[in-house]
Amino acid sequence: MMIIIPKKDNYDEEFACWVLLLLAQVMHMPLVLQNSSHLQISLDKLIHRGHCGGLFYHNSLAWTKVVKRIHNIVFSQAPQSTGLSRKMEDNVGAETLVEVLDEKQRKKKPRTAIITGVARPTGIGRTLVYRYLEKGYQVIGSDLRELDDGDQQKTSSVMSAKKLPLDRFHFVQADIQDPSQAKRIVEEAVHHFGNHIHVLVNNAARANANLDMDRIKSFADTIATNLNGAFYLSECVIPYMPPGESSIIHISSTRALQSEPFTEGYSAAKAGLCGLTHSQAITLAGKVRVNAVLPGWINTNPLGKSALRPEDHQWHPVGRVGVPNDVALLCLFLSDEECSGFITGQQFVVDGGATKKMVYPE
Ligand SMILES: NC(=O)c1ccc[n+]([C@@H]2O[C@H](COP(=O)([O-])OP(=O)(O)OC[C@H]3O[C@@H](n4cnc5c(N)ncnc54)[C@H](O)[C@@H]3O)[C@@H](O)[C@H]2O)c1
Repeated sequence: MMIIIPKKDNYDEEFACWVLLLLAQVMHMPLVLQNSSHLQISLDKLIHRGHCGGLFYHNSLAWTKVVKRIHNIVFSQAPQSTGLSRKMEDNVGAETLVEVLDEKQRKKKPRTAIITGVARPTGIGRTLVYRYLEKGYQVIGSDLRELDDGDQQKTSSVMSAKKLPLDRFHFVQADIQDPSQAKRIVEEAVHHFGNHIHVLVNNAARANANLDMDRIKSFADTIATNLNGAFYLSECVIPYMPPGESSIIHISSTRALQSEPFTEGYSAAKAGLCGLTHSQAITLAGKVRVNAVLPGWINTNPLGKSALRPEDHQWHPVGRVGVPNDVALLCLFLSDEECSGFITGQQFVVDGGATKKMVYPE
């Protein structure tokens, strides 16, 4: 096979060299460059930097993206009659090839998100479901209990009233503190929407413990759901997360940073999620970005605004209590590679400034 590289145009030289190096490696063919001194220079630079064959940048996001692009060119285009060599022979530059790929990517299948803790129609989890569906995601919603507004059919009627696509939502009832049930959520996601899961939002949680409960049991149960469950589900999902385009978001709380009395289990679990976030971010570097969102006071009361007093709003530096959308929009941002591709291992407080307010005795 002969590849003719067009004279230096506007295409990305370094990228073209990477393609050549990889082609040489996967096809076990020597790389011979004729009349391509401009490419030779870029190639020399890459080899000089130790970037040889498929080994360079193997753990970075940039490399993951390049491998995917190369994979698409070599394996999606080459076998067809309009393959790489034909395109090159037709003197179509690398820039055009990249455009072809971008067009392909635009047409690719929708992204899939798993969101836990979605039972309550006014809760943060359900708002996440609605926002991700609106963004074009396929969504697996999960909860320990059934959907509060009835079965999936009834929820579907709510969703169709909101003009949301019913065929892109599937509910799985499961207890995330049981590893085998966490696994089942992922299996159902793969069964319904295919084996690529791009986003996991660990939103399910037990609220603060009932003060009458056995304190030891209450602490253990809260950690089991709010921290262990998030870890189990992550472990099950990660093998299905395409490198370089996937994101895990743990819904923590400002209780990770400050407390009321008798909230040991909840605060410890939410602070644990922050540790889990930076640990996973480093373990999964170059593959999956992992971030934590720490909501403050978010009004999920079914009575809506009428459940709040004016002073509840005024107490917040921004002049209002939070709404589930405040959390959901940040999660969407953190799921989007273009918006937040340079952000991983971080924790984001969404509290209207409340934790920054100095409090003195009355
Ligand atoms: N609302 C707030 O003011 C606020 C503030 C800070 C943090 N948060 C966090 O935001 C998230 C959502 O909170 P929300 O206020 O919408 O509460 P919510 O009660 O509507 O959502 C939590 C859901 O998790 C589910 N759940 C509990 N244990 C589970 C288990 N073992 N397996 C599967 N599902 C389980 C519950 O059934 C519930 O539907 C929680 O993680 C919460 O800690 C909320």
